[in-house]
Amino acid sequence: MRGTKRFRLARPVAAALGAVLLVGGLAACGNSDTGGAAADDGKITLGFSQVGAESGWRTANTTSVKEAAAAADIELKFDDAQQKQENQIKAIRNFIQQKVDVIAFSPVVESGWDTVLKEAKDADIPVILTDRAVDSADKTLYKTFLGSDFVKEGRLSGEWLLEQTKSATGPVNIVELQGTTGSAPANDRKKGFAEAIAANPNLSIVASQSGDFTRAGGKQVMEQFLKANPKIDVLFAHNDDMGLGALEAITAAGKVPGKDIIIITIDAVRDGMQALADGKFNFIAECSPLLGPQLMDLAKKVHAGETVPPRIETEETTFTQEQAKEALPNRKY
Ligand code: AHR
Repeated sequence: MRGTKRFRLARPVAAALGAVLLVGGLAACGNSDTGGAAADDGKITLGFSQVGAESGWRTANTTSVKEAAAAADIELKFDDAQQKQENQIKAIRNFIQQKVDVIAFSPVVESGWDTVLKEAKDADIPVILTDRAVDSADKTLYKTFLGSDFVKEGRLSGEWLLEQTKSATGPVNIVELQGTTGSAPANDRKKGFAEAIAANPNLSIVASQSGDFTRAGGKQVMEQFLKANPKIDVLFAHNDDMGLGALEAITAAGKVPGKDIIIITIDAVRDGMQALADGKFNFIAECSPLLGPQLMDLAKKVHAGETVPPRIETEETTFTQEQAKEALPNRKY
């Protein structure tokens, strides 16, 4: 851990300071098991600020990170930001104060990170972006990004729809449930999907609103869409959870999901795959949450001062209903 590389405080002083940092840190953060100052046991200490627990994807991602840290013998200081950027900034500052060896975080939104990233850089603590990117112009503020190509996920979703609707002679009305406003997956999936469907002028997005990546949000916004739009042919939801919430609204409105309304989602978590296999969803573009092992590998490398690629993308696929039936028995999350 970093303290050993610099200087040692006399024990009573260190203990008192540790207690102050512990109380201050815990009060500052949303929901954390970050503990006090980084342990002096020779292990790498990784401070990880998670977005929250908004979706099945996120839960699987948290499990992957925790299990991989234990397997790699890395001490993990984990903080759940409850989908609030200010909590993530506090958590990162807390990690800097604790002198962790490496900081990783999944930024809830893309903008507004330069100041805190500069603080980490000034403290000589390498930062890894995981899952979601930031829009900082200064790429030296972090070592690498590990995650998905969200634009591609949106594009694959749009291309599948293009193929399905190529013989349409009239308008195909699409409603879109966006992820968290300002987040990389919401911005990028929207972009990729819009670019793909632009190839057929019959296809148009008639309503688009954020459901914040949650089931409750998906249900509530879909209810509004159904009230305001007499003809909805397609739902494009930026994740499975919003699609699953929307199913309730669609059924309550007397429509048959997967038939009256084509449903396309992203993630491919178990519940989403079950809905696809059951014929309630029509297509899913995969987004893998299993980033833990690669993240631990990167943490070790950046801690050792090794150069790592600036961007590492996860390998992903897509699923139709038939493919979901085949894949479900072996689905890990
Ligand atoms: O950043 C990844 C996205 O965040 C997942 O698609 C979504 O389910 C999650 O909340």
